[in-house]
Amino acid sequence: MKNYNTISIIGTQWGDEGKGKVVHYLSRDADYIVRYQGGNNAGHTVVFDNKEYILHLIPSGILEHKKCVIANGVVVDPEALYNEIQFLKLKGFKVTKENLFISDRAHVILPYHKYLDVVREKTQKIGTTQKGIGPCYADKYSRSGIRICDYLEEDTFISLLKKNIDEKYPLIKNFVSISRESLIKQIVQHQRKYSKFLKPFVTDTTNLLINVIEKGYVVLFESAQGTMLDVDFGSYPYVTSSNPIVGGISIGTGLPPKYIKKVIGITKAYTTRVGEGPFPTEIKSQLQEFLRNQGNEYGATTGRPRRCGWFDSVVVRHAIKINSIDELVLTKLDCLKGINPLKICIAYKYKGKLYYDFPSSRKIQSLAKPVYISTTGFNEELSNITEYKKLPKNVKRYIELIEHYCGTKIKMFSLGRERNKTIIR
Ligand code: IMP
Repeated sequence: MKNYNTISIIGTQWGDEGKGKVVHYLSRDADYIVRYQGGNNAGHTVVFDNKEYILHLIPSGILEHKKCVIANGVVVDPEALYNEIQFLKLKGFKVTKENLFISDRAHVILPYHKYLDVVREKTQKIGTTQKGIGPCYADKYSRSGIRICDYLEEDTFISLLKKNIDEKYPLIKNFVSISRESLIKQIVQHQRKYSKFLKPFVTDTTNLLINVIEKGYVVLFESAQGTMLDVDFGSYPYVTSSNPIVGGISIGTGLPPKYIKKVIGITKAYTTRVGEGPFPTEIKSQLQEFLRNQGNEYGATTGRPRRCGWFDSVVVRHAIKINSIDELVLTKLDCLKGINPLKICIAYKYKGKLYYDFPSSRKIQSLAKPVYISTTGFNEELSNITEYKKLPKNVKRYIELIEHYCGTKIKMFSLGRERNKTIIR
């Protein structure tokens, strides 16, 4: 069978594993970088030439002047995309129809999705980013969604919009202070502005990707969020509304599975999550605040403080299995400096039974107690170390324990935000 040069970069925890930096690092050797799910709920932080960039929709490969694809599985907020492109242009990056390709089948996030996100959050309490992601995917699956190809046709758009507003206005009218007619008028005005700007970028991205992969180009798939936020395999219902796992690539791009080759899992050296939901290894003492400050653990999209906890090998093993991960990248090891001892969760315990696999039951997820092993911490500054063999003994021991309990080799270490603070093993 023909080999294809594709690499999938997958988050193994609850998102925020540091995928932005790794994708940026690996995109040097890639030709195309593809987003296949999620929307501007994501926040990928990249430090480049001493400047920080936070990207929400466009893959960080754009900073390396690579070709970027927003595939059909992504939900696109035209205003957010417009703002991101303006931001990149202001910073001197070229974004044109030659290097950004947006699927005509991707669904569009409209203002009423954001209102509904806020309204639903009052009862659901998921802790969403309030960007309209869930309501937009809900419309996709209830077949009332508006795709980019519909958005570009004004008559199709207006008739779909009216139907949607008829259905949703009663739900949002206590939240928005404008009439149904004014809301429609406002959205149509937006559509006129943003459809003109979007049009040149829109294409059949499935055809494009099959074509370039068959020709041997290197294509990188960049997941947003992480395996534990996957709507099927995460900590349901405290998840996002898409499939960040490797299986999501096929649906989210239209590429048959034969094209999905190497899979790299991104793992933070400890665990974090934003929003509500079970988090078995969450640290309940002041150490949580210490770790949050060392790791600067604040949401890149919402600024919310991230919840912090110990490394959870139950979670990472689950991700390795579900995504068939070939190798791991371990990020933010340097942020564990000064914590002693370091703990690693190796299983959960609930009602006397040990769980080595992540349980599906929301009750067990929230009541299970982690079983830990401990190892001695380190006080050395790691960020200037450039060779694996120069890492302190206790750091190597921590790494070996993670590899042992996850059953997978770690091939790359990120020890700081800048690109050069990386060790390849
Ligand atoms: P939504 O994706 O905005 O619907 O939010 C659903 C859940 O996913 C919430 O717990 C969010 O905090 C979480 N979430 C969404 N995007 C990200 C991300 O990029 N990093 C970490 N958590 C995220």
